[in-house]
Amino acid sequence: MLTLGVMGLGLAHELQSPLTATALGLELLALRLRGDDPPGAAEVADEVERTLERVRRMAALVQRMRAFAKAGGGADEAVDLNRAADEALALTRPALSELSAARLVRGAQDAVPLVRGDRLLLEQAIGCLIINAADALGAAEGAERTVTVAVRRLADGAALEVLDDGPGFPDAEAARAPGVSSKGEAGMGVGLALVELVARDAGAILEIGNRPDGGARAALRFHVDSGKAEDAEGTP
Ligand SMILES: Nc1ncnc2c1ncn2[C@@H]1O[C@H](COP(=O)(O)OP(=O)(O)OP(=O)(O)O)[C@@H](O)[C@H]1O
Ligand SMILES: [Mg+2]
Repeated sequence: MLTLGVMGLGLAHELQSPLTATALGLELLALRLRGDDPPGAAEVADEVERTLERVRRMAALVQRMRAFAKAGGGADEAVDLNRAADEALALTRPALSELSAARLVRGAQDAVPLVRGDRLLLEQAIGCLIINAADALGAAEGAERTVTVAVRRLADGAALEVLDDGPGFPDAEAARAPGVSSKGEAGMGVGLALVELVARDAGAILEIGNRPDGGARAALRFHVDSGKAEDAEGTP
């Protein structure tokens, strides 16, 4: 029941921003087509293709999240964490550049073994962590506004970290529970609950805490059996 609830609310959570972006993009395109200097066919075709790509991803996400809720788990596929980190950054960058002054930085890119899990849902989960970090920076005082996404090799596996230099978690242990939010009307408290569900399904641990020098750290920690480790190029 918890899975169903989190996935149901999670779907609304994950679709809201790409739907808004899609509607805005189409509105702008219609406006330009009716204007004095309408874009040429090639430019329109490019814009339509970009929009289609976004719509296809939303459709795939709906399908994956329904399947997850029904089966109690996601796909079991090999996932390259560095690629997933890049994809999550590409997904969140356009929305964040409009809404927030946060600088998105790609940190460490250690060569790590492939992990197993649902690639699409893991990318969304990383995106949730990035958006949370950017939200926290939006509320922060001062000039430090950086979100860093790093992939690190660990002795027993790999970690994907999202670090920020904001105020840190007010209560790191409470934050992962569904419904816990410090954002009033703006937050549902769904993000971290969804991330935790997806992480656990992939056999990963969601670590949440504050950094010694200030700011928050959220990480997905994967254990990889060294005997079975395959690197990102697919060679054992
Ligand atoms: N990087 C961060 N820095 C500081 N606090 C954070 C950070 N990430 C999450 N939090 C805290 O954890 C709470 C729960 O996060 P969660 O993503 O579950 O919900 P939300 O962001 O408040 O709302 P929603 O994700 O549903 O829009 C946040 O309200 C905030 O108080
Ligand atoms: Mg959130």
